[in-house]
Amino acid sequence: MSRVLATTPALGRTPLPTGLDPARLPRHVAVIMDGNGRWASRRNLPRVMGHREGVEALKRTLRLCSDWGIGSLTAYAFSTENWNRPGEEVSFLMTLFERVLARELQALEQEQVRIRFLGDLSPLPNGLQQLIADATARTAANTGIHFNVCTNYGSRAELVLAAQRLAERAAAGQLAPAEITEELFAAELHTAGEPDPDLLIRTSGERRISNFLLWQLAYAELHITDVLWPDFDEQAMLTALLDYQRRERRFGGVDPLA
Ligand code: FPP
Repeated sequence: MSRVLATTPALGRTPLPTGLDPARLPRHVAVIMDGNGRWASRRNLPRVMGHREGVEALKRTLRLCSDWGIGSLTAYAFSTENWNRPGEEVSFLMTLFERVLARELQALEQEQVRIRFLGDLSPLPNGLQQLIADATARTAANTGIHFNVCTNYGSRAELVLAAQRLAERAAAGQLAPAEITEELFAAELHTAGEPDPDLLIRTSGERRISNFLLWQLAYAELHITDVLWPDFDEQAMLTALLDYQRRERRFGGVDPLA
């Protein structure tokens, strides 16, 4: 059996490192997987080899999050702006998504991962759309980690769509504008039902949000690392979580001990 969550077969789960407090783990981790192209260029490889290796890093990260009891992992796989990349790179990515999904679906099912793809999926190739629909349906009742893959995702477009849906309900007389709350708004986002991410990890040293989860990241702690995404491993994840656990989260309030 191929384990989706492991490249190390039959070793079982990776135990939580002793330095981490199990009671203070993030419930939801979001990742901007940056640096695939640079990883490949530094090795004189074509950029797309970086994406292939990036898939391995994503599987590693999903396995660690699952093993360590993190409830949700949301990864930025393809942004609405990524269509502007060279045509060959875009088609490579679409084919890569198809292959990975087809290859890993059985293991995702067995390991209780619930996978969802967030974004406007309509411009994706038909074969990929079908695989996505199948994977979503077959894992919908799974009880393990929630794995969200943001694909053709843009946060501003997501916010506009939410506003349109609420405006339609208001225009139809089903909702008074004053009744729109943060909860109602969040329920119209692709992430409806997920807690907001507590931690955002961005690799390769870039310090940008890049139109990712603008609403949902309102109170997230940010961890920026110079590690390139294909090199993101257990040590890098541990460093991110230790950094997170050192932060004092106030959500706009004050430190009661200060
Ligand atoms: C950016 O690196 C990374 C991407 C465009 C993401 C590629 C997608 C995956 C690795 C995961 C696919 C996942 C599934 C579930 C099928 P970059 O090309 O921007 O790197 P650079 O900044 O060095 O050029």
